Amino acid sequence: MRSLILLGCAAIAVIAHPGMDRIVAEIEARHDYVLAARSTSLLGDLREETTTATGQLIADILTDVTNAIAPDAQSYQPPGSLGSASCRSDTLCVWYYVGKEMWAAFADQSGCTDLARGAIRQGFHDAAAWDVDSPYGGADGSLLLSDELTRPENRGLQAIGAVTKALYDKYHPYGTGMADLIQFGAIVGTVACPGGPRIRTFIGRKDDNRAAPPGKLPSPFMNAPTLISLFAKKTFTPSDLVALVGAHTSARQRLVDPSRAGAALDTDPQIWDASYYRGPLGNDNQTIFILPSDQALARDPSTNGIWSALASANGQAIFNPAYAQAYFRMSILGVNNLNRLQEITSVVPGRR
Ligand code: HEM
Ligand SMILES: *[C@@H]1O[C@H](CO)[C@@H](O)[C@H](O)[C@H]1NC(C)=O
Repeated sequence: MRSLILLGCAAIAVIAHPGMDRIVAEIEARHDYVLAARSTSLLGDLREETTTATGQLIADILTDVTNAIAPDAQSYQPPGSLGSASCRSDTLCVWYYVGKEMWAAFADQSGCTDLARGAIRQGFHDAAAWDVDSPYGGADGSLLLSDELTRPENRGLQAIGAVTKALYDKYHPYGTGMADLIQFGAIVGTVACPGGPRIRTFIGRKDDNRAAPPGKLPSPFMNAPTLISLFAKKTFTPSDLVALVGAHTSARQRLVDPSRAGAALDTDPQIWDASYYRGPLGNDNQTIFILPSDQALARDPSTNGIWSALASANGQAIFNPAYAQAYFRMSILGVNNLNRLQEITSVVPGRR
């Protein structure tokens, strides 16, 4: 309890000066608040009707009836080699082989690799090029099926984009789509970082080679109110937004300041942990690289309370549930055949 009090004081010193008891009570209330303030709106065809068991499951995850985090790695055994008749007759099989190949590139002894970071960001940039006014776009593979990758906001994704396109060329003949590959990659990339949540994973999205309407992705120079409204139009609450940027626990930058290319946004970018949230509350922009947008969200009165709860000693306990549910939502933005998806979580690889 003492460490909670000390860290809590440090984390919320910016906004609060009351007595210790009240500080502790406030922190505890905020933990509830962070999770209670997640978005629960339905998406896509589920807004019209739920016609299948999978549609119901996805609706339950979106509305927090069911956990977005799956239990530990399951022991799926492929019925045959890639391309064999038995493998072709089991949808999970090809994804098992895709996952195995991704894992080799995304995980090493120390944790997650640069390609894993790229895959996490790539999933975000395909899906979030969408908002409620978009006629098309979202998690549709257009990031790699159109010329979106040449847009300034997508600089830095070239390496993971090339790897993902090569996987597509290899596995598409066995039925994998680009939109699914990109989102599967983001989830495998997250699990490759020790501590990262096993987010429940579905396939069956429709690919679209039309470039998404521009101007939907954030810039690191946006202020907090602008970021909040940008994400609100994608059905995310401020609580979801703060949880989502927690992905920067695994991030490096190359292009905001090229003279510091490779600088990490967290002290241990190979690991997934809530300690990331302490950096942007402070001012040490040398040990880590603090994005102005991260610092804006850390300090703005409308998000500082949520941010401080995640930065506190107990932040780890709410980070993964909040992140997993928000990223699950991200992974199906713009998808309008949710009743027809299929769950493949059991082939998501992991450390055993
Ligand atoms: C407020 C919204 C966000 C802004 C302004 C933002 C901005 C940035 C910027 C400028 C970089 C550095 C790119 C470079 O120089 O190479 C970066 C990296 C990264 N971002 Fe974000 N980001 C945001 C939210 C997110 C979200 C929601 C996710 C995932 C769910 C995410 C995942 C990542 C990852 C994993 C990296 C590291 C990429 C790498 O090392 O190759 N970001 N972000
Ligand atoms: C941190 O330093 C970089 C330059 O290396 C700068 O671009 C960035 O804006 C700084 N972040 C903050 C929050 O001041």
